[in-house]
Amino acid sequence: MIRVLFNKKGGVGKSSLAVNLAAISASQGYRTLLIDLDTQCNSTAYLNVTDLPKDSSIADLFEQTITFHLHRRPASDFCHATQVENLDIIAGSERLTELESELDSRHKIYKLREALESLKDTYQHIFIDTAPALNFYSMSALIAAQRCLIPIDCDDFARQGLYSLQQKIAEIKEDHNESLEIEGIIANQYMTNANLPKQIVNELIAEGFPVLSEYIGQSVKMRESHQAKKPLILLAPKHKLTQSLIAIFELLDKN
Ligand SMILES: Nc1ncnc2c1ncn2[C@@H]1O[C@H](COP(=O)(O)OP(=O)(O)OP(=O)(O)O)[C@@H](O)[C@H]1O
Ligand SMILES: [Mg+2]
Repeated sequence: MIRVLFNKKGGVGKSSLAVNLAAISASQGYRTLLIDLDTQCNSTAYLNVTDLPKDSSIADLFEQTITFHLHRRPASDFCHATQVENLDIIAGSERLTELESELDSRHKIYKLREALESLKDTYQHIFIDTAPALNFYSMSALIAAQRCLIPIDCDDFARQGLYSLQQKIAEIKEDHNESLEIEGIIANQYMTNANLPKQIVNELIAEGFPVLSEYIGQSVKMRESHQAKKPLILLAPKHKLTQSLIAIFELLDKN
């Protein structure tokens, strides 16, 4: 199953969730791939992926679609092992920025989808982390994925953003990718002792948004995990935050 973590709002937890859900998937024995489509490269840094072989980031995968090659390298050439057993990554790159307009003008929006087609027998779960923008790359991801997960940080701006996001996803489904579904809104940084998050989540549910039934609390463990460059399943497997993330993965795995 190919899942994209997407929200145009920044800082809602896309990278944190992409990395941790992918690491949990891998720790449960599934061959898993994480793709970092954000020029900030937060997922790549979080997994402490350095020392990549030359020309083997996500930018190189896209770049070979606009340059002439006698032999195009298969997508598997861009997948690298990480510190987590069973988890590979296609690493992010700042060079995505300089390639974007040429990829867009040469209509390469289906290239990620084609690449992932060729990997779907290798990986049982693929997670894609995106930038906080509907740019060429997040569009490519929404065209390549079967499921979209939308993290929100339970504030009113996040809710406002959901209406236009829902419309955009419906449009992409109609025009480019009929298998695309919003699988779940993930309530992240949910504070149980505050009223506003509860109110926002309840309103979303009442409006018919598929809010996942497990909410992720706010915990300093998340930042510690980033700093340690270790996903929570390795750093703190028994922690409440980790247990919530496992519960989210299990909700997804049922689908
Ligand atoms: N459940 C949580 N508890 C505490 N802090 C969190 C939690 N989830 C995310 N954060 C923190 O919030 C910040 C933003 O998280 P993250 O980078 O995952 O969001 P993002 O949506 O990927 O951001 P961007 O849009 O910039 O890519 C980070 O500093 C992260 O440590
Ligand atoms: Mg991010």
